[in-house]
Amino acid sequence: MELIPKRSLPEAEHKREFVRTIFDRIAPRYDLLNRIITLGLDQSWRRAALDSVGLKPGERVVDLATGTGDLAELACARGAQAIGVDFSGGMLRAARNRRPHGLFVQADVSQLPFRDASAGVVTCGFALRNFTDLNTVFAECARILEPGGRLVLLEVDEPRSRLLRWGHALHFQHLVPRLGAWLSDREAYRYLPASATYLPSEEELIARLEAAGFTRVSKRRHLFGAVQQIRATRI
Ligand SMILES: C[S@@+](CC[C@H](N)C(=O)[O-])C[C@H]1O[C@@H](n2cnc3c(N)ncnc32)[C@H](O)[C@@H]1O
Repeated sequence: MELIPKRSLPEAEHKREFVRTIFDRIAPRYDLLNRIITLGLDQSWRRAALDSVGLKPGERVVDLATGTGDLAELACARGAQAIGVDFSGGMLRAARNRRPHGLFVQADVSQLPFRDASAGVVTCGFALRNFTDLNTVFAECARILEPGGRLVLLEVDEPRSRLLRWGHALHFQHLVPRLGAWLSDREAYRYLPASATYLPSEEELIARLEAAGFTRVSKRRHLFGAVQQIRATRI
């Protein structure tokens, strides 16, 4: 099946600004589109990600690229103290509208405004492919996590079986852009599936996390491999 053309992707030097603008634009309908595109499963993946790190009451959680704050909200519901970080003013406005008492900070994840070893858990939902420099982000995660702190990442992935990959491509690369164009923003929902090409392979992702200071890196697949969950422990 034909991939989404690479022209949906910005040039490297423009990526940061492109991504921020895209998310500012789609923020008002981001949650609605997420629920439709994932058939309502996205929150169950976020819950599973939080299960994997075994949150303790009162534990400090930093949710990277928090968007409208889904993961931060679910962590707070489990008694954690969660702070959501995002660089899109539009997404943070949507997060604050949903949760006026939630803690949200506007910042770039490659320069986190937190002290060394100040968090017990770092979470990040469906944002890795939007970052410009993954190594810097992983180094920042390692810096703010205390020794033994846990990291969990959710991201899109590709099923391994050929048949499932075909069905997945039909949904993710054809249906999603059309739904997005109809209900939200054409350019953004062309970029979102295309941006999966920025993701490193499983082996490379694990190697980069280990190089940043993580150990016990493991991967779990959701929905026949359409979604990956990476869990790691700070050395
Ligand atoms: C696909 S959304 C994910 C939102 C949320 N984590 C979720 O689970 O739905 C990606 C988010 O990453 C944010 N983002 C991308 N690059 C960023 C960066 N360098 N620093 C901070 N936020 C960033 C975007 O603004 C957007 O809100």
